[in-house]
Parts: sequence; C-alpha cells; structure tokens
Amino acid sequence: MIMRFEELDYQPTAMGDLTLRRRREPTLDVDVFEVKLGDEFLMSSLFTVAEEELAHLGLAAVAGERLDVLVGGLGLGYTAVAALADPRVSTLTVIDALPAVIDWHRRHLLPVSESLVGDPRTSLVCDDFFGLMRRDIAPGAARYDAILLDVDHSPRHQLDPSHADLYTVEGLLALARHLREGGVFALWSDDPPDDEFLVTLSSVFPAPVAHVVAFDNRLTGGTSSNTVYVARHAA
Ligand SMILES: C[S@@+](CC[C@H](N)C(=O)[O-])C[C@H]1O[C@@H](n2cnc3c(N)ncnc32)[C@H](O)[C@@H]1O
Repeated sequence: MIMRFEELDYQPTAMGDLTLRRRREPTLDVDVFEVKLGDEFLMSSLFTVAEEELAHLGLAAVAGERLDVLVGGLGLGYTAVAALADPRVSTLTVIDALPAVIDWHRRHLLPVSESLVGDPRTSLVCDDFFGLMRRDIAPGAARYDAILLDVDHSPRHQLDPSHADLYTVEGLLALARHLREGGVFALWSDDPPDDEFLVTLSSVFPAPVAHVVAFDNRLTGGTSSNTVYVARHAA
C-alpha cells in the first residue's frame, strides 16, 4: 500500500494542537511537509519563496559585515537557512515558543534541518519572541543587526492575542531597542501591504517599505503573494 499521509509529530500546546505531517502531493509528485496549529495551517514546504525573501530583503537592507541576526519563528526553517546563506551573518539566533518545533529540527525531521542545526553560527532558543522584545535592556546593549519576524499571519491577524502589542508604536519602539544603529526589522505578512501599519512603522523607523513577493502557486497553477515589510533603524 502507498502511504500518502504520515503524521510525524503531534503535541497539544497552549495555542492549540500542533501537528507536523508529511504527505505525498500526487499532482506534483513531491513530498510536502505541513505544520498545523489548532485549525490553522501555519506553514507548508510547498510555499517558501516569501519566507526566504524575508531573509534576503531584510539582510539586503543591512550594511556591514559580521552581522548578528535574530529570527522570530523557526517553523520549517526556510527563513533561517536563507539568512545563513549570507556569508556576512556571523551569528544566527532563532527563537521559537514551541519546544516541539525546535525538537523537529534537532531530530533532523525537516528538509532544511541538517543545514540549520549543522551550521556553527546557529543557536536555537525556546522562548517567547514578544516577551523578549518587551524585556528591559540596558541602553546601548542592542545586540542585533537584523530582526526577521515570521510568527503571525499578519500585523492584524495574530496567532495569539498576547502578540498584538508588538504591532503598535510602543511595541515597535521596544523592538527597536534591540537593534544596533542602522539595524533592520523585517516582517513577513500573509496580507497585502497595510497602509495603516506602514504609518505605525514609520513612527519608529524612517521610510519603511512594503515589498509584495509574488510566487508561483504550484497547487493552483496561478500566482500568490505575501508581503515583506523592511524598516531600517536610523543610523
Ligand atoms: C509561520 S511559522 C515560521 C515559518 C518560518 N519563517 C519558515 O521559514 O519556516 C511561525 C512559527 O512561530 C512560532 N511561534 C508562535 N508563537 C511564537 C512566539 N510567541 N514566539 C516565538 N515563536 C513563536 C511557531 O511555533 C512557528 O514555528
């Protein structure tokens, strides 16, 4: 019998039941890895272009060498591995709130796990990204040249209500304290560019940009798009 569907892991979490599954997509003849949290599809290995562009566009806006980069939301690992492809990246810290997600990569369950955990620049940290951004840091102790965030569906549609404050002026000011001068905050969103959120971003960062990232949707045969916001801390 041909197995079309395999549940690789299942864990109840405070945000809903988390499942990782691998299935054969017969129309494309490929294995697809999918993550579901509660009733929502968090991520599919069929759609990774914009997740990788989050790293490419974010890092392209950073000047300098020996960059310290923070990724919020590990997921299937595509943003993190795309960041490691930039030779200027000296350290890559990836934060995920769910221990199971980190464990999947440590067990090499996912297509990019080996490149991610085998790279000496990578640290995987189990923590709440939003809590970390709110925490006090001493003035001048900013640690990151880039913060790349892909946790929520969009600035308006969060996985958990406790994430909402990040997308306000106060939340972005708190995040900006973690960036060195000239450091970049980049954010993935499933929604089209949101003018209201751009206004909020521009209260904290001069001239933020919303990039529309279009990609081939191999399932529908059409084109889909996500948004990547890129905002640079004043140098
Ligand atoms: C859409 S996935 C990230 C996908 C990733 N960009 C990639 O390329 O595979 C979102 C991730 O955010 C994590 N997450 C959810 N809440 C979080 C929080 N409060 N802090 C950090 N990570 C969180 C989830 O466990 C999930 O792994």
